[in-house]
Amino acid sequence: MWWLGASVGILLGGALPLLWWWWCRRQCNDGHKGSSAAAVPKGNLGWPLIGETLDFIACGYTSRPVSFMDARKSLYGDVFKTNILGTPIIVSTDPEVNKVVLQNHGSNSFIPAYPKSIRELFGEQSILQTNGPVQKKVHALIGGFLRSPQFKAHITNDIQHSVKLTLESWKGTHRLFLQDETRKMTFQVLVKALMSVGPGDDLEFMKSEFQEFIKGLICLPINFPGTTLYNSLKARERLLKMVKRIVDGRKMEMEMTADGGGKAAPRDAVDVLLGETDEKHLLPLDFVSANILEMMIPGEETVPTAMTLAVKFLSDCPLALNQLTEENLELKKQKEELGDEYSWTDYMSLPFTQNVISETLRMANIINGVWRKALKDVEIKGHLIPKGWCVLASFISVHMDEENYQHPYQFNPWRWEGKGVGVNNNCYTPFGGGQRLCPGLELSRLEISIFLHHLVTTYRWSAEEDDIVYFPTVKMKRKLPITVTPL
Ligand code: HEM
Repeated sequence: MWWLGASVGILLGGALPLLWWWWCRRQCNDGHKGSSAAAVPKGNLGWPLIGETLDFIACGYTSRPVSFMDARKSLYGDVFKTNILGTPIIVSTDPEVNKVVLQNHGSNSFIPAYPKSIRELFGEQSILQTNGPVQKKVHALIGGFLRSPQFKAHITNDIQHSVKLTLESWKGTHRLFLQDETRKMTFQVLVKALMSVGPGDDLEFMKSEFQEFIKGLICLPINFPGTTLYNSLKARERLLKMVKRIVDGRKMEMEMTADGGGKAAPRDAVDVLLGETDEKHLLPLDFVSANILEMMIPGEETVPTAMTLAVKFLSDCPLALNQLTEENLELKKQKEELGDEYSWTDYMSLPFTQNVISETLRMANIINGVWRKALKDVEIKGHLIPKGWCVLASFISVHMDEENYQHPYQFNPWRWEGKGVGVNNNCYTPFGGGQRLCPGLELSRLEISIFLHHLVTTYRWSAEEDDIVYFPTVKMKRKLPITVTPL
């Protein structure tokens, strides 16, 4: 279908793409120079309209998605230009250049710039697209809430509950698809953290609409009935209606409680975004609803993928699996002896488990890079990113580079020994960096730790042969079938 859509687009587009292509070539080849000697990186913009997209996608279906970047890197250097997914773009595979991009060049030089289909689906108000004071405010509110001790205490219980329920449901079933199972667990936790919706019809509705919604995240930007983008936008409308109902109801509830005096601690992200007491800074209700919906995107796909890939990597590395199991059995024994409840810190202070998670995130590259657009001419390490150009800071290229990691394709949790969970440097950015560093970082690590703890202390498994696919999003080709046996 994708290829069909692309061909029809090219035929229907006629002369327009050719003109556009000529314009882009001019833009890129006229040797745009900034105020100094910095030059626009070298590269190739490929075919009209589709640019080098086909090559980019083809690499995403192999076990070495980074080969697209590697091939160009060897021809043009660490920073080069190309044209993918309808966007002429400068790609950086250099950790230092990526750092400057993530830190927004110290000021307001870059804004997020995702492909057209993603932009339409996010909506204009999404934190992932906004810039300046509004993004800072929402980021601070959500980050503060997700890091608060109250949230950590109750979300630990919620995650445990969800993980245990799912693991119990495996009793009697021997073969299951891990990718589907992890998604069930995490969606429930995410919806609870964002808007306190528990199991029931509303959750089931959201789950199925959300699946339709995210299908459009990376697709051709063609929007008419029957296309992926169209169906996805319709699912977004239905979801937004439900989120609005929840937000409106909560606002009324808050007003009534305020009349009765007293302000309760926030239960979820809806409470946090509605909780502003200063009239001048109140966030509009539509803005809150849209942001809650869009926050489901970074949280939904990412965590279950990380869990599934952790199991895949561990299945292929028995030595790591043994050490992880020993560490977790030891914690379980201690907890049983003391008759204690598990806390957030119990899970987060298991050193080898955290190393397994760090290594999984390095190799999984769930978010393979971030897209930005330059608001002005920006020079970094002798490269010029002209005003209006997009730049892709490629994390996957850095994570899989021999220069940064010895044997980068080898799953080696021991390489993280002594580095701790706070590791985030230029060469390790699974959660991004700078002012947009993922606010769900600790929550994600916690969810994965709880899942791994209960999995390895309850079951043994054997995984069937399966491959990782990197396009349009990272996932297992066969959803990782495993056969479990209770311990
Ligand atoms: C393994 C799991 C996850 C990974 C790898 C991940 C990765 C990332 C990355 C790379 C960014 C930066 C995007 C950019 O700079 O444009 C980001 C941003 C974000 N993430 Fe996560 N994320 C994960 C889980 C979560 C979870 C569970 C939540 C929960 C709500 C979440 C919420 C967000 C939000 C709201 C932003 C936008 C921050 C901003 O622009 O200010 N993420 N994430």
